[in-house]
Amino acid sequence: MNVSVIGAGHVGLVTAACFADLGHTVWVVNRNTEKAAAINAGKPPFHEQGLEELLIRHAGTNLFAGTGYDPIAQCDLIFICVGTPSAKDGNADLSLVKAASLSVGDALRETERDHVVVVKSTVPPGSTERLVRPAVLEQAGRNDIGFAANPEFLREGYGVEDFQYPDRIVIGSNDQQTLNQVTAAYDGINAPILKTGITAAEMIKYASNAFLATKISFANEMGNICKQLGVDVYEVMQGVGMDHRISPHFLNAGVGFGGPCLQKDTSALIRLAENLGEEPQLLPSVLEVNEGQPLRMVTLLEHRIGSLAGKRIAVLGLAFKAETDDVRDSRAISVIRSLLDKGAVVVAYDPIAIPAMRCIFPEITYCTDEREALKEADACLIMTEWPQFSMLDDAFEGMRAQVVIEGRRILTCGTREGLCW
Ligand code: UDX
Repeated sequence: MNVSVIGAGHVGLVTAACFADLGHTVWVVNRNTEKAAAINAGKPPFHEQGLEELLIRHAGTNLFAGTGYDPIAQCDLIFICVGTPSAKDGNADLSLVKAASLSVGDALRETERDHVVVVKSTVPPGSTERLVRPAVLEQAGRNDIGFAANPEFLREGYGVEDFQYPDRIVIGSNDQQTLNQVTAAYDGINAPILKTGITAAEMIKYASNAFLATKISFANEMGNICKQLGVDVYEVMQGVGMDHRISPHFLNAGVGFGGPCLQKDTSALIRLAENLGEEPQLLPSVLEVNEGQPLRMVTLLEHRIGSLAGKRIAVLGLAFKAETDDVRDSRAISVIRSLLDKGAVVVAYDPIAIPAMRCIFPEITYCTDEREALKEADACLIMTEWPQFSMLDDAFEGMRAQVVIEGRRILTCGTREGLCW
């Protein structure tokens, strides 16, 4: 099929590359000419496992990137994959979705063929019907275009794997022909396909991310209680997770969830509920627990070494998780801010996220490796689970005092203390 993808972020570019690998001809439309040139040269503009080899294999053959919307006139399916960041009030900012819809409508004005517009961006339930459909149809001056919602469930860094081996494919549409068209795009992917209404499909995405966030905050609340009991929460959650109704996944207690999605989507769902006249109780508490976890790291540190004023604190792990340079909503941000507020001298290290964090905290010292960060440090906070952080026993020797607190469960040395264990 001829497919276009609007937006070349982690979702759009992974989707485009994987559709190309399924044999479709794919046009990627994005605002940035440098990014388009990099894609056409087979160079991914960010880290996603397996993406580079897909781009090398398909760029210039059946995957093309550019900034113009012209190619979509010849496309059967047009996937909108632009970002929907949080607005200041917690609502989803849909300005990029609106702009993309208008541009898509413009490009479909004169064509003589069938098209389906598919919203893959995470949007508040109701957005495809209330925002995308009218914007496209008005701009196109026609009403014979199909619409669908097809949310993604990709983990950043593992998007190719999650696209090619999904637990499920969700396709929402109100007409059978559109459902068939979008289903055909996934020929070759071996996974159950759930066909449902458009708004239900949008809600499945929000409810999935809100539940993942809830599982993590539940594990953290149990962890905080277990810490007081002197019980290892990982032993407890191992027992809990053996219940097939619960599953062992996403029950890792620690410094909490960061990243561009879980907080954003849970907040947007809360705002949506309130706009509908509901007063959600559970979801706000999920976010409150999460906001408290990083500050517990600092409180625990103060219990261990007293006042932080003038103390040299090494922070290892700056991104929102290991294997990524993405610092969006990273738990390290509130930890570093709190340490600085308390007069600590912060030295930081991360294998790949230093350039990103330097934009947020230009004033702290960034080190070239863990050993340099730990040298003469009064304490160390470990914020992400990079495997290399689990082999620091001799590097800890270089500290002024071996006070090591981990917010992710990776260390084995006896001296370490866990946030919830
Ligand atoms: C998440 C969802 O997993 C994915 O399905 C959705 O499409 C986008 O949001 P992502 O945010 O990329 O993916 O990363 P993920 O691996 O889910 O981790 C999110 C955050 O939760 C990270 O900060 C991670 O450290 C934290 N986490 C994850 C926990 O604290 N405990 C866990 O058990 C799992």
